[in-house]
Amino acid sequence: MRSERRRWSLPLRLLHWAMAALILGLLVLGWVMTHVRTDLGTTFAWYLWHKSFGFAVLVLVAARIATRLLSPAPREAMPPGWQRRAAHLAHGLLYLLMVAVPVAGWMMASASPLHLPTRPFNLFTLPDLVAPNAALFRQLELVHATLAYALLGLVVLHVAAALKHRFIDRDGVLARMGF
Ligand code: HEM
Ligand code: HEM
Repeated sequence: MRSERRRWSLPLRLLHWAMAALILGLLVLGWVMTHVRTDLGTTFAWYLWHKSFGFAVLVLVAARIATRLLSPAPREAMPPGWQRRAAHLAHGLLYLLMVAVPVAGWMMASASPLHLPTRPFNLFTLPDLVAPNAALFRQLELVHATLAYALLGLVVLHVAAALKHRFIDRDGVLARMGF
């Protein structure tokens, strides 16, 4: 029964945890591929996987926003006051960054002077969002990295808040996302 719903809808919970794993993996892979020196073939493969899974995040976040708009929030209230406002702000920013980070990555890949086509999982070629341009590429590199690490910072706060609810407040907030 809708009115008795205590957790987020099942599709939203599945998307939440699948995307959390994907995004944390991409943050690690993004850092590794740009900082760890290895042979060119391996680095190239890392970039291909990063771009493929990064694009998958963009597809999944579109499905998630649609699901979020269609399925009601859990009935059991969040703690009122500043905590609820902070949670709404943080969740809104997380959604914004889940869109902005892959879009910035896609724009960067398009602007690259190397102009290598981006083919997610080798299935199809993504259209270019901008024309190749070395100066723009360097700016977008900075934008993509800055937004990605801002997302990481926000996720750290988000997880700290979830753990506070679980172990300090001992309320049901973590269970709203559980199975
Ligand atoms: C949620 C999705 C994504 C996350 C969390 C993410 C995260 C990151 C991170 C942390 C880095 C390393 C930044 C640095 O330290 O310089 C990086 C680099 C990179 N990302 Fe992403 N990324 C995502 C999606 C994408 C997408 C969709 C594309 C392209 C289609 C892409 C293309 C790249 C490229 C080409 C680099 C290397 C830039 C360079 O060589 O300086 N990323 N990403
Ligand atoms: C990349 C990692 C993550 C992202 C981007 C993320 C994003 C989000 C977003 C946007 C929401 C709002 C509900 C929705 O519309 O889906 C949410 C809810 C939630 N997340 Fe995460 N999350 C991540 C990781 C985690 C982790 C690791 C935990 C647990 C330790 C966690 C615990 C929760 C809980 C308990 C809620 C429900 C809060 C409520 O009911 O208001 N999340 N998350």
